[in-house]
Amino acid sequence: MPKVFKKSIKLGKFLNIVLVYMTNATTNFLKIRCMTKELSILEAKFEAQKLAFGPIYFQAVISMKELGILPLIGKHRMGIDVEHIASTLGINPYGVGVLVEAALNAGVLELIEDNKYKLTKVGVMLNSDELTRVNLNFVNDVCYDAAKYTTDSIRKSKPEGLKVFGPWATVYEGLSQLPDKIKKSWFEFDHYYSDDAFKSALEIVFEENPKTLFDIGGNTGKWSIACCKYNQAVQVKILDLPGQIAVAKKNVEDEGLIGRVDFHEINLLDTGQKIPAGADAVWMSQFLDCFSESEITNILKNVHQAVTPEASVYILETFIDNQKYPAAAYSLTATSLYFTTVANGNSKMYSEAKMLELARNAGFELEVSYPLIGHSYHTVLKLRKTK
Ligand SMILES: C[S@@+](CC[C@H](N)C(=O)[O-])C[C@H]1O[C@@H](n2cnc3c(N)ncnc32)[C@H](O)[C@@H]1O
Repeated sequence: MPKVFKKSIKLGKFLNIVLVYMTNATTNFLKIRCMTKELSILEAKFEAQKLAFGPIYFQAVISMKELGILPLIGKHRMGIDVEHIASTLGINPYGVGVLVEAALNAGVLELIEDNKYKLTKVGVMLNSDELTRVNLNFVNDVCYDAAKYTTDSIRKSKPEGLKVFGPWATVYEGLSQLPDKIKKSWFEFDHYYSDDAFKSALEIVFEENPKTLFDIGGNTGKWSIACCKYNQAVQVKILDLPGQIAVAKKNVEDEGLIGRVDFHEINLLDTGQKIPAGADAVWMSQFLDCFSESEITNILKNVHQAVTPEASVYILETFIDNQKYPAAAYSLTATSLYFTTVANGNSKMYSEAKMLELARNAGFELEVSYPLIGHSYHTVLKLRKTK
């Protein structure tokens, strides 16, 4: 049984962070749970209004970025007033005024002497933090319009919001055809959360020096290309839907790695399509979260029929129960609703416990869990076939 220690820290008026330290034989890390303290009726009413007007404040921030207002204020550490912002950017003072007043209320700006505005720490994050930029663009470009279809998506168990982009059953079928701006935000989001995990993951996967590696859901080929550069001998096979295979092929060709990487078009929702044999290592990065529990079990059973007990099967995921920072758990939980409305209507960000349960059901056992690598958001599970 893991040992659990709890410590409560008060952060501001409304937030209590309860640090839960868990230690057991295989893990030694920190889990954080976020709890709200009991609010007065007035405080609760204010919190409710923050949600009621949340989309408007969100769009005000987007607009301030698009119009260059936030970057301009960021450059003026001693503050800048509305008239100066308006004349510098050629925007009418009314427009600047309503935006900065909204930003003031949202805690993005502070008002200092002489009616000048400057960025708060939150404003600095919105203006220049890369994680925040990637998340904002993803929410604005990929999720925002589709979120209007949340109720329909839940009722029908289908990504009803996807129709704002095209007639596909899942976003993956349409990914390569999305408009450039949407595609850019989608890929930046996807890559942001996997790229920085890749360095640590390469060391883990190549500890055993696999000769052949299957990259299931290999997407643009980033991981496969990184593998070929990291290890001069490995042969990689990318398995994905036809649209993504075409993109991966082009990228692999551009890197001059065509003899090292092989391609296999497959739709893993079709249980009749079998993963071929021959892998020493199977890699699934941010792939299984694209599916429902029963689909994951079927895909892992498909992997199971393809591998020997000597093969190592790796899953890289951002698990909601294995995060160091409250902001990470908060963002991941919201990402589940992107899966609901845009991606496929039936998947989500899972807990590590759930993924292990599904893996066991498919005939795998956990060999090692490598928690919190990369940006401290990811876990690599190393599995082995048991039966
Ligand atoms: C979120 S991306 C992950 C990409 C990459 N592995 C990474 O870590 O950045 C999920 C990938 O799974 C693929 N995928 C989704 N549904 C699939 C299906 N039914 N069969 C095969 N691949 C699928 C998508 O095309 C996409 O490339």
